[in-house]
Amino acid sequence: MAHPGPNSTSQSESQNRGIPLLASFPESGKDPAIEVKAERDIPWMHLGNPSSPANGLPESFTRSTSSAERAERRFGVKGNAILTGGGGSLALASARALLEHGLSGLALLDLPATFKKPDVTEEIRSLRDEFPSAKIITTDIDVTDADEVQKVVGEIRSSLGPLNILCCFAGIVNCSRAEDIPADQWRRTFDVNTTGTWLVTQAVGKHMIADRLGGRIVLTASISGHRVNYPQPQAAYNASKAAILSLRTSLAAEWSPYGIRVNSISPGYMDTVLNEGQTLAPFRQVWAERNPMGRMGDPQEVAGSVVFLCSDVAGCYVNGADLVVDGGFNSVTFFKCC
Ligand SMILES: NC(=O)c1ccc[n+]([C@@H]2O[C@H](COP(=O)([O-])OP(=O)(O)OC[C@H]3O[C@@H](n4cnc5c(N)ncnc54)[C@H](O)[C@@H]3O)[C@@H](O)[C@H]2O)c1
Repeated sequence: MAHPGPNSTSQSESQNRGIPLLASFPESGKDPAIEVKAERDIPWMHLGNPSSPANGLPESFTRSTSSAERAERRFGVKGNAILTGGGGSLALASARALLEHGLSGLALLDLPATFKKPDVTEEIRSLRDEFPSAKIITTDIDVTDADEVQKVVGEIRSSLGPLNILCCFAGIVNCSRAEDIPADQWRRTFDVNTTGTWLVTQAVGKHMIADRLGGRIVLTASISGHRVNYPQPQAAYNASKAAILSLRTSLAAEWSPYGIRVNSISPGYMDTVLNEGQTLAPFRQVWAERNPMGRMGDPQEVAGSVVFLCSDVAGCYVNGADLVVDGGFNSVTFFKCC
């Protein structure tokens, strides 16, 4: 692109075009735009190395560890976890699995209305009964409220101790034809699924960085972030989940010096309240028929992947990955017949 000569831009002209007054430094003979860039203070991203906290080989991989010990520890989970959308189907199934694999502290975060549902109350009561040595707390939150998120995460850190694991499940889905999606529905979908995930991840990430103990973060994307769903139109949801896939790779790189592994799961069509209801019967039939395994998934089938990604040993070298848990749905391409 041709640039104007040193004296060709008057001060008022440059202000009108948004060119900073550095343009009036023609003596240097340099392009004013380049001089502006040289003054910008962009943070430099540092990547991790084996001496970064929690980035080295896990203990169980040393030669002296017996096979039996390795097998036992491989999918072991340690420490405290926060699960958002904690009263939802996938979160509760994952919470149970994490406790079964050794989690000692659990904070389930969700909207107050969700914690009032009898089946949710009952499941949380049974978790407390079955895992009496684990500290299990529930906290009301709207993940879109940035101040509230900071406050609540700080309180949980004080109550449970260092936060080792974060799993973001909070999410909503709306189905509308693209041309009809109201602006506020589009924004709300992104607010909960994308920004809400980010706000909690940032708040917890700050504590993980300060505590210098590393961490495991699992974001919930979806097959909808990978491909177009059929037959329900849901462009806002799909785009909000595609953003999660991008967020996980950015954070996996940026937070590697702190030993924080960031991965995502992409569930396929799961048999949860999100996909319940008589009106959805024809849709459920299509989802099952188009699946190579001929059925929708059960929440327990997602829980194993969550344990793997949160485990100290089995998942220790998995970072920035997305685990598609969909019975093969995502791998089959359907062509429109004429
Ligand atoms: N069920 C599926 O087929 C499927 C498939 C792919 C991805 N997912 C994703 O998995 C996650 C969990 O889904 P699920 O099937 O367990 O659904 P669910 O409805 O049972 O769980 C979602 C939870 O998020 C909570 N939530 C919604 N808005 C919130 C907010 N503003 N603040 C805090 N919590 C909020 C809800 O109260 C609910 O408990 C979601 O992110 C969903 O998009 C689900």
